[in-house]
Amino acid sequence: MKLLEINSLSKDSILKIINLALKLKLNNNFLKINASVANIFIEPSTRTKISFIKAEKLLGLEIYNLDFKSSSFSKKETLKDTIYTLIQYGINNFVIRSNTLKFFKEIENIENINIINAGDGINQHPTQALIDALTIYEHFKRLDNLKIIVCGDIKFSRVFNSFYHLIKKFNSEIMVACPDQFKNNNLDIKYVDFNQGLKDADVIMMLRVQNERHLDINLNQNEYIKKYQINLEKLNKTKKNAILIHPGPINWNWEIKDDITYNNSKVKILKQVKNGIFIRAVVLGLRDI
Ligand code: CP
Repeated sequence: MKLLEINSLSKDSILKIINLALKLKLNNNFLKINASVANIFIEPSTRTKISFIKAEKLLGLEIYNLDFKSSSFSKKETLKDTIYTLIQYGINNFVIRSNTLKFFKEIENIENINIINAGDGINQHPTQALIDALTIYEHFKRLDNLKIIVCGDIKFSRVFNSFYHLIKKFNSEIMVACPDQFKNNNLDIKYVDFNQGLKDADVIMMLRVQNERHLDINLNQNEYIKKYQINLEKLNKTKKNAILIHPGPINWNWEIKDDITYNNSKVKILKQVKNGIFIRAVVLGLRDI
């Protein structure tokens, strides 16, 4: 199975993955896989990397971890040569995070290997979109008929890119609030005022300002906060059953004020983190879908 971009999954496949993840979360019955996996993280990660490793351990996989500094990537070895090398050691499952857009183009034709895109630059992060969808589904028992507001840096967000394409498969409305610099003209998006959009929203997804990806954009933090930050006062005015999610990592006091805490009943951020284990275990166990 190659999970490279979210659009390779149909609506039915997404619902199947979510339901398998929910079942796994309930019964903790991780079916063992007799195979090896390499986690190749050329870009930094905490939750994606660790939740994949945790899921792999629960599935009984033999695990090999590669990062940039301690591998031959730092000597300019290509991804393709790295994969061919690891195949010789009996490894045929690859979880890869890279800052190269569509890094998988280089390796997708290699036969008999499974590849999961764990984030490729600003392009896609399909397992994060599945995690976000699972977290929403757990709360509302559906992915249809929801109003979702996404606030923040959508232009540079691979999480948003995957999430947008996932939600478009369902009958839900997605609205975005962001400064002009972060608008994405390649996607059909309804842009709204954040405070207006918040009133109607069932789901509030806040995104990190990815300062490291747009060194040429100068944002005034005070203006950004005034228009696009969520704080406790704003959260308290949202619908009674609304939820707040964030894929992490959070820039506290940029997109979310620190008067909002993880234990607020509307905040599902740690649930998203935990759901990473179950979604990733299901995806690792999939062969064809
Ligand atoms: N959401 C996410 O991808 O987090 P990490 O960068 O910590 O993996």
